[in-house]
Amino acid sequence: MADDPKPLPSVPQSVLELSAFNPVARDNPHPLLKSLREGCPVMRDEGARVWVLSRYKDIRDTVNDRTFVRHPLNADPESITARLVEEGRERRTSILFLDDPDHARIRQPLAKAFYARINRMRPEIEAMVDKVIDAAPASGAFDLMEQVAVPLPVLVIARIIGVDEARLADFRQWSEDVILGLNPVRTSEENARMISSGEALDAYFGELMQARRKAPQDDLVTDMVQLQASGEANVEDDEVRLNLQALLVGGNLTTTDLIGNGIWLLLNHPEQAAALRADPGLAAQAVEEVLRYEAPVQVTSRIVEADRTVAGCPMQKSQPVFMSLAAANRDPDTFEAPDDFDITKKRASHIAFGGGPHICIGAPLARIEARHAFVKLLSRYPNLRLPEQDLAWRTLPFFRGLERLIVES
Ligand code: HEM
Repeated sequence: MADDPKPLPSVPQSVLELSAFNPVARDNPHPLLKSLREGCPVMRDEGARVWVLSRYKDIRDTVNDRTFVRHPLNADPESITARLVEEGRERRTSILFLDDPDHARIRQPLAKAFYARINRMRPEIEAMVDKVIDAAPASGAFDLMEQVAVPLPVLVIARIIGVDEARLADFRQWSEDVILGLNPVRTSEENARMISSGEALDAYFGELMQARRKAPQDDLVTDMVQLQASGEANVEDDEVRLNLQALLVGGNLTTTDLIGNGIWLLLNHPEQAAALRADPGLAAQAVEEVLRYEAPVQVTSRIVEADRTVAGCPMQKSQPVFMSLAAANRDPDTFEAPDDFDITKKRASHIAFGGGPHICIGAPLARIEARHAFVKLLSRYPNLRLPEQDLAWRTLPFFRGLERLIVES
């Protein structure tokens, strides 16, 4: 069940060595992360000018500590974090990089509306999962990413937000293009596409807000304009548009990877797939174990607000602190036999969704989709298996997911 015990690689010296830019880490980051956690749990990367934490406790304490800040404008201008700020658009950011009071002002009403809606729409979301999986080939070999894991999250978020059926195809294309924003090595053609689709999406969200003010519907855009009108949400129109886009960008690739990584792990551990088939009540625990074992988002970060000690080391104002969620999730001080993939074992809470005020807002949605997708896929395909294939992990730094996953039944 565990990874093969091999000698550990030497302690990594830079954050990029831990990312998918490094073919070794892309293939399997865990030996490198283990070596970092054991050999240098508070690492200074002078090239990227960031700190890197890898122990669970240090990371848990840091994400929960509200005295750190998040906006890249607070970061050492020579650090890789400062490069996240687009020239001329410095202040325009979603809750992902906002600090209080703006973060709380926007996140609170958004989260309230989003969670109420997800709760109400749960049967409909599960029906969408069924529909996508039922449309995949009934037998033979197919790419699970292409047929299920990629199309599902965008369909669900489109329905939640309230995208009109007639604009679904445009919406899909715009989504794909704006997600290029996560790729730091995009070409100039991709960059141009990202910008123009971002503008199209922004204009479309603006149209939707106007339309829903006139004729309310059962969707998140209506919820937000109604909260604005009642005074419950003190949020500007452009902030609503920007944060709807954040839901789209934050939720698509990540949920895609949760589903892809999960089916890969389950099929690689047939006894675990059998346990889940026999007891679908294990689905929630299975999803948590997948998130722990192969975290789709491998890193998050904070910025030191004033000189202080972090994890026992003196750090200075404006220094960014990167945290390897993937390393924390396999810390043996927190998880017994951390390299075992075991969906039947009760474990401490993983940290794949981050924590504290910035904890992933989409976690409940990702959980609903993945739980239902795992159970549905295993029941629709009683003989689902992995044929021989060269696995291709995505090259996007700090994300862990498959380009393709050929399955066969
Ligand atoms: C398996 C799926 C997902 C994973 C692994 C994931 C992971 C994360 C992580 C690690 C963070 C940063 C937390 C921190 O720094 O403490 C985050 C934030 C965020 N996520 Fe997710 N996410 C997932 C799904 C989603 C979905 C489905 C949505 C939206 C529909 C979403 C939207 C966001 C947003 C908007 C933030 C920023 C929250 C804030 O800063 O207040 N994510 N996510």
